[in-house]
Amino acid sequence: MKKSLIICFALSVVVLSNGLHVLGPSGPLAIQPGGSVMLPCYVQTPIPVEELEVEWRRTDSETVVHLFQDGESQPESQDQAYRDRAHFFIEDIARGNFSLLLTDVTTKDTGLYKCVVYRNQESNEILIEIKMSEYLTVSGGHVVSVYAGEDTTMNCSVHSHIPPEELEEVSWKKRKTDEDMVVLQFVNGQTVPESIHEAYRDRVELFSREEIHKGNFSLRLKNVQIEDKGFYICEVFHEDLSANTRVEVQ
Ligand SMILES: *[C@@H]1O[C@H](CO)[C@@H](O)[C@H](O)[C@H]1NC(C)=O
Ligand SMILES: *[C@@H]1O[C@H](CO)[C@@H](O)[C@H](O)[C@H]1NC(C)=O
Ligand SMILES: *[C@@H]1O[C@H](CO)[C@@H](O)[C@H](O)[C@H]1NC(C)=O
Repeated sequence: MKKSLIICFALSVVVLSNGLHVLGPSGPLAIQPGGSVMLPCYVQTPIPVEELEVEWRRTDSETVVHLFQDGESQPESQDQAYRDRAHFFIEDIARGNFSLLLTDVTTKDTGLYKCVVYRNQESNEILIEIKMSEYLTVSGGHVVSVYAGEDTTMNCSVHSHIPPEELEEVSWKKRKTDEDMVVLQFVNGQTVPESIHEAYRDRVELFSREEIHKGNFSLRLKNVQIEDKGFYICEVFHEDLSANTRVEVQ
């Protein structure tokens, strides 16, 4: 048992020291527009810089994202779209780390990338997939104090990879002990007039199309009544995602 373990270990050491073995992430990387993403690419045994070349490319178009050759980055080989957005860490090369940081990402950056590492004539590469992450969050939860007869606004801001107009449903509900009461619903890009509860008829509305486009689903409540006080929920549903925020009216 002990003997076979030792042989096994010896074999793997031989394989590692003979072949160029490039390592990367274990799965796809998810991005959000405007964010940044680190594309890991490294070797366990550092390569002398004079024997090294590292190519970062997109696999679909062969576009050069970054090229490190002859001991330096080659900005003139790089595609315009990645100028000032692809950061290669020269100081980490000595540790066998050839990772690339991509900043200000957009949906156009999704796809397959490869990191090709050359040591003299030898080469090895890894593939990395970048995809859009799915996210849905709602913020705005707060307390509003208002007198009967006044108007007020209940905040609800939706942040998502889905354009607000395309959300399946945004609902404002009043929390009740038995069942929540629908105050107003926004479905498939518009307010559903029939969804407005009779107690709120002509008293509630969302803001303009431009505001909704920004994810502003705040509810305007006019001529506040004593019975309006309580907890309101702004709930958003899209496919299997959902999120909500709560506003208290005092
Ligand atoms: C490679 O370098 C980057 C930038 O300094 C760092 O964030 C990352 O953790 C390093 N990766 C490894 C495997 O050392
Ligand atoms: C509602 O949102 C607006 C705009 O972001 C902000 O100015 C206001 O303070 C918010 N109201 C409350 C009560 O948090
Ligand atoms: C929503 O839009 C209204 C009208 O422009 C504005 O007063 C309010 O502050 C906005 N709320 C948020 C949370 O952005």
